[in-house]
Amino acid sequence: MKLRERFPGIFLKDREIYTENLVKGFRYSNEKILRVKGVEYRQWNPFHSKLAAAIAKGFTKIPFPEKRNWKMLYLGAAHGYTVSYISDILCNGFIFAVEFSDRCFKELLPVCEKRKNLAPIFADARKPEEYYWVEAVDALYVDIAQPDATEIAMRNADEFLKKGGVLFLAIKTRSIDVTEKPKKICEQEVEKLCDAGWKILEWGMIDPFEKDHGFIVAKK
Ligand SMILES: C[S@@+](CC[C@H](N)C(=O)[O-])C[C@H]1O[C@@H](n2cnc3c(N)ncnc32)[C@H](O)[C@@H]1O
Repeated sequence: MKLRERFPGIFLKDREIYTENLVKGFRYSNEKILRVKGVEYRQWNPFHSKLAAAIAKGFTKIPFPEKRNWKMLYLGAAHGYTVSYISDILCNGFIFAVEFSDRCFKELLPVCEKRKNLAPIFADARKPEEYYWVEAVDALYVDIAQPDATEIAMRNADEFLKKGGVLFLAIKTRSIDVTEKPKKICEQEVEKLCDAGWKILEWGMIDPFEKDHGFIVAKK
């Protein structure tokens, strides 16, 4: 069976995406598990995760480190689907996972209980002072489907992201403007980041996996 490491901790088998399961036997739902030479790999569905969608779309700049040891602040962890895969990828790192819906948070908790590199934080990403104690991080992941997601991302980056740190930002264009073309909206969000001094590593639309969504990878 041929698995190719595309980015540190992220593997491809033909068009399927896998991560190495940090917690043997863990399944988020009913994803496919592969076992190769004693290592367990979990399939990652690009229709359920914007980062997986970006990889499936052929993004080339997903700069996770070889040591897989980043600290990350993740805003909008929801029920913990994508963050469980980032926990696999950053197996030697740590992720602070912020979510403000109590219904989602309840489902995030058991995922974090099983994974020692995930800390759940029940807080509003618009109020970084609520989690002021989070240490400086190497990466910030923002997937909150809010009209001011870019501004919230930049505010959190000011507080927590190290200089040279990486931002992964999902843009739900329909939360920003339903009348404008989705790509145009993303271009505007990219421009906001550029105007604020960010270096864009890569961005693109992630249709058909997530309709009318863009994904941006940028460096502080
Ligand atoms: C699109 S879902 C995230 C999906 C998740 N990132 C994944 O891939 O598994 C957006 C989540 O952001 C949360 N959210 C929205 N605004 C927020 C805020 N201001 N603070 C914290 N969480 C927020 C919502 O409750 C929702 O669970």
